[in-house]
Formats: sequence, structure tokens, C-alpha cells
Amino acid sequence: MTNTLTASPPTVADAITRAAIDSFDACPDPRLREIMRSLVRHLHAFACEVNLTEADWTAAVDILTATGHITTDKRSEFILWSDTLGLSMLVDALAHPDLNASGATESTVLGPFWVPDAPMRGYGESIAEHSSGTPALVAGRVTDPAGVPIAGAQLDIWQNGDNGLYAVQDAEAEEAHLRGRFLSRDDGSYAFVGVRPVPYTVPNDGPVGAMLEVTGRHAWRPAHIHMIVTAPGYQRLQTHIFDSASPYLDSDTVFAVKPSLVRQFEVRPADDPDRPAGVNGPWCRVKNDLVLVRSV
Ligand code: BEZ
Ligand code: FE
Repeated sequence: MTNTLTASPPTVADAITRAAIDSFDACPDPRLREIMRSLVRHLHAFACEVNLTEADWTAAVDILTATGHITTDKRSEFILWSDTLGLSMLVDALAHPDLNASGATESTVLGPFWVPDAPMRGYGESIAEHSSGTPALVAGRVTDPAGVPIAGAQLDIWQNGDNGLYAVQDAEAEEAHLRGRFLSRDDGSYAFVGVRPVPYTVPNDGPVGAMLEVTGRHAWRPAHIHMIVTAPGYQRLQTHIFDSASPYLDSDTVFAVKPSLVRQFEVRPADDPDRPAGVNGPWCRVKNDLVLVRSV
């Protein structure tokens, strides 16, 4: 008896997908071969799932072209796509699957405003080159998960001021404004004076901004201070301190908030004897310990 349950013959679409996947069979780099085959498989599955039309496809090509045109060495619209589609945070999660379980400080997105070679500054010094909001004394210790101090760890700090801008975006600001590198002391302690950061929108005058607008999303990030912490023998940590009083903590447009990174900016009066040198009005105090894990 003939079997009537034989598999249906491949469709034209199936054949195209198969041929495109197989075209990478001879790729000599195994990782590139894996990525290209999987990319084609998922891309074709996506097109089939949404029944991608010619008009959709043309619109997508126009968006990619506009993304290229607005990208410069100071602005990567491609990274902004990755950030706002959650891909940057997914890559971060895949790269550090057990940071939290190991007791280490959690990582988050880098963002486009880090600039290398921030000035080295001394313990407790200010990173503000001119007045830019309520001063915020940030202090803590850098340790390993067992609480052993890590001396000589480098903390590279950058943040925005009360105009919402990072120095790199602000033609009026000094290059070193709200940027600085600090070293932890022998007991792992570090301190610097920044300012209370403010929420801001990611650059929204390009195709990513248009996507956020037409899809009914907002462009805001909650207030935060960035840091990259490095120490010989330890994994590099790229993280934020989020202000617990900020709006948008539950709707960060780049999905970068982790509850363990949220800190209280405790408002202190001008006459508090613990106020940092040079501070005359109200200020904030933020306690922020950092835990690094050994590199493998
Ligand atoms: C930032 O935190 O600086 C940032 C992160 C992702 C996209 C845009 C800005
Ligand atoms: Fe930022």
C-alpha cells in the first residue's frame, strides 16, 4: 500500500531559503559560517511570519539607507537601533550570564557618549568643570565577591549635567566636563563629586527617533551616571548608577535598568559638616559599592 502521508514537496520559498543557507557551506571560518546560515534562516522565517510585502521591504531598505547617512564617527545610528530594540542588553546578558549570581555588580549598556582618555582625578575630586546641577558625592569600595578590597582599580566616570547633555554633545562645555578617571585606594575606597544626573532622550532626530514616534514609544532614559571599572586580573565592568527618584526607571527606552543598580541620591543640607570641599548649597550623597569578579 502506498503511503499517503509523505512530506509535502518544498515550496518555492523553502527552496530559496535552503539555497541561501547552503551557499555558506564552503565558508572557511566556522563561526562566520554558523552566523551567516543562522542569520539567513531567521531572516527568512521572519519575512514569512509577517508575510513581508514589497512595500515593507522597500521601506526597510530606505530606513537602513537613512541610518547609514546619519551615522558619523560621533554618532552611530546602528548602535541606537541595537539599543532601542533591546539587542545591546541581550548581548550584555549573554556575555555575563552569572554576574548577579556570583555577587558581582551587574553590567549594563555602554551608550554612545563614552570618550577615551578622561582626565585622571584625585580621591574625592569633582568632575564638574563648571556648575551643572546639585553636587552629588558618590563613594564606596571596590572589592571582590568575598569583600576583599581591590586597590588601584580604575573607575572611568561620565554623566550628563542639568542641561541633559554629555560634554561630547555640548559645544559650550569643556572637553573634560563631567568626565574623570579615579583609582581606588589601598582599602578599595573611591570617591568623586559629580552632579545629580537628569533623565534625557536618546538622539531622536533620525530613523530611530521616527520608529519610536510612529510606534508610540518614548525616547527617554532615566537619570544615571556611567562607569567602567577595570583592575588587573578582574573582568571589566561597564555599568550605571541609576537615581531611584528618576522617572522612566520602569520604561527605559534602551531596557538598561537593573534593579540592583538603582541607588538613593540622599539630599543633604548645605550646613552638613560632611559636605565635600567647595560645596556651598544643598548636595546629595550616594553610596555605591562595586564588586568585581576574577577574569577567567
Ligand atoms: C546612554 O546612556 O548614554 C545611552 C545609551 C543608549 C543609547 C543612547 C544613550
Ligand atoms: Fe547615559
